[in-house]
Amino acid sequence: MKLRRSRLYVPGNNPKMIPPAGLYGGDVISLDLEDAVHPDFKIDARMLVSEALKVVDFGPTVEVTVRINPINTRWGKWDIKQIVCEKLDGIYIPKVEAPEDVIQVDELVTEMEDKKGLEIGRIKLFATMETAKGILNSKDIAVCSKRLAGITIGGEDLTADLGGVRSSDGLAIHTSRQLIILAARAAGIQAIDTVYSDFSDTEGLKKETEMIKKMGFDGKACIHPSQIEVIHDVFDPSEDEIKYAVRVMKAIEDAKEKGSGVIALGKKMVDRPIVLKAEKILALAEAAELPVPTFDEVE
Ligand code: COA
Ligand code: MG
Repeated sequence: MKLRRSRLYVPGNNPKMIPPAGLYGGDVISLDLEDAVHPDFKIDARMLVSEALKVVDFGPTVEVTVRINPINTRWGKWDIKQIVCEKLDGIYIPKVEAPEDVIQVDELVTEMEDKKGLEIGRIKLFATMETAKGILNSKDIAVCSKRLAGITIGGEDLTADLGGVRSSDGLAIHTSRQLIILAARAAGIQAIDTVYSDFSDTEGLKKETEMIKKMGFDGKACIHPSQIEVIHDVFDPSEDEIKYAVRVMKAIEDAKEKGSGVIALGKKMVDRPIVLKAEKILALAEAAELPVPTFDEVE
């Protein structure tokens, strides 16, 4: 399982923030060429980001990605041409409204990998839907490229497009979040939530992260390093959840040994959804390097 609990945006024109960006413990960093960069500085930012990708050591575990400009702007294609390199793990495509927006990126990335002698297909794509049209097309977008590893939702732009109000209960984008989850699950890829903009409000971030985790999201974007730990704490399974998951796996072993088709934990039957949830919790725990007790350590 590839962990994408947190994804830190780093302004692509900020030479101070880029080098240490991988050291805050986040799962993903997104060097941003889009909304964090004023149009007058797009070319400088692109140069800075492509150089940083070559020379900065972001650390052994972080997934290094770039958010490019939308593919149909005058910057999008040049962004791709310049940033594709060995150290780039993924590209976030903003304002995706149709499969064609992703396919164009996929084709150009393939062309650049070929030209630069890189392994074809290694660089992953992530599509962000942030308009009504994009959300409604997310089902087709999510399956349009083998490179797609996840889809995301852009809360601020989407709320503006919908004519709603961005509020702490997330009402304006609630259905859109559900549609993103449905599209991601149907395609077998990950779903990543939008940012919580007030980085001084830790309680608010925690509450929103708890909500989107319950909805099914795999992770959440953030704008400040201090948000990473809050997000991980919500997404990481608790000690009790891990212990229970191990007991479920042990019950399966016991049933197998007895040749019984029915799996029981104490006096409770363990059905398929419980097994799937236990497997997911253990995969998450392993990926996050959390301690997992052995069968003998759980009663
Ligand atoms: N990426 C990397 N480093 C960051 C960071 C980020 N997104 N946000 C803050 N930092 C660093 C700062 O450089 C500072 O480092 P230092 O201690 O070595 O000096 C430290 O974290 C603390 O930062 P702080 O002083 O609390 O915040 P700030 O005033 O420097 O920055 C923002 C606040 C909002 C400007 C900044 O967090 C930011 O630019 N976030 C990203 C915005 C963005 O990309 N938006 C587009 C996507 S929605
Ligand atoms: Mg946006």
